Amino acid sequence: MSKALIDPQGRHITYLRLSLTDRCNLRCFYCLPKGAKGFSTPREWLNFDEIERVVAAFASLGVSRIRLTGGEPLARPDITSLIARIAAIPAIDDLSLSTNATLLAHTARPLKEAGISRINVSLDTLRADRFSTITGGGELQPVLDGLAAAREAGLAPVKINMVAMRGINDDEFADMVRYCGDNNFTLRLIETMPVGSGGQMASEHYLDLNTVRRQLSDTFNMVPGAMPGGGPARYMQVVDSNLKVGFITPISQHFCETCNRVRLSAEGVLYLCLGQEHSVDLRPLLRSGASDEVLQAAIIKALALKPAQHDFNEQPEKIVRFMSKLGG
Ligand code: 5AD
Ligand code: SF4
Repeated sequence: MSKALIDPQGRHITYLRLSLTDRCNLRCFYCLPKGAKGFSTPREWLNFDEIERVVAAFASLGVSRIRLTGGEPLARPDITSLIARIAAIPAIDDLSLSTNATLLAHTARPLKEAGISRINVSLDTLRADRFSTITGGGELQPVLDGLAAAREAGLAPVKINMVAMRGINDDEFADMVRYCGDNNFTLRLIETMPVGSGGQMASEHYLDLNTVRRQLSDTFNMVPGAMPGGGPARYMQVVDSNLKVGFITPISQHFCETCNRVRLSAEGVLYLCLGQEHSVDLRPLLRSGASDEVLQAAIIKALALKPAQHDFNEQPEKIVRFMSKLGG
């Protein structure tokens, strides 16, 4: 049996994004519209034994990087013990977390101690009133406190993910660049994707990041830069500083040909692409006592379903699941 995950396009899959819950304590309108229903119940989630087992199966097939995501992963009880178990799998050499940081002020240090090395934080604005509007009533200050705690705990790099939206936060890019520079964070701007009803509604605020990059280049002295990680962001380096600004352009310039990842929902469904429905439910195997070999074979077989690319431009209404199911 092949011990690497290679899809029909020849792409090597080395990265698994693991959603721990589809729930979230915020309601960012582009992700989880107010009144969103149909969340999975904790009984449906893979338990920690099942998660450890499935991660080990991916690791035995060449996956070395795991990102915990959600929804809001820190809303999952006892997450630090899960982190320690994943971190103990020898082939996993990069364990990271995506969070809204609302619960980070008191968890940053235990997360770091358990084995998280770096985090991505979703933050679209530095203005409290605007934060409340975007997130459906969230408070900004706990997020800023959480970010400070992350820095103090030595989680590095801290990357700020800012969804760029016309008429919502398009007057704040320079402020966010300065905030990240002052705090030693990396900024990444993201184009709005039409995932779920929230994302489709938010598409009226879509902003082509090529325009934003040109605008920022007028304000800041930026040159093309590199950043290790193998992700889709294209980075610019602000000259005479540590600051990098990444541009993630799924819509204006997609990067599907270099895709190195697959996603597992909290319920154990393996999704081969964020922008397509192709999926395989691994939970029945995990719950029916399947052997490691059978589990590995199912994952290898699933890879054959990985689509070449998303169809966000051609079929923007296609994906009805909420973004919070798989977390970006
Ligand atoms: N388009 C782009 N990014 C999104 N995110 C959530 N919904 C969307 C969307 N419709 C981002 C969040 C977070 C990550 C989990 O995905 O801001 O950074
Ligand atoms: Fe929660 Fe992140 Fe979705 Fe906002 S974008 S509702 S913080 S999962």
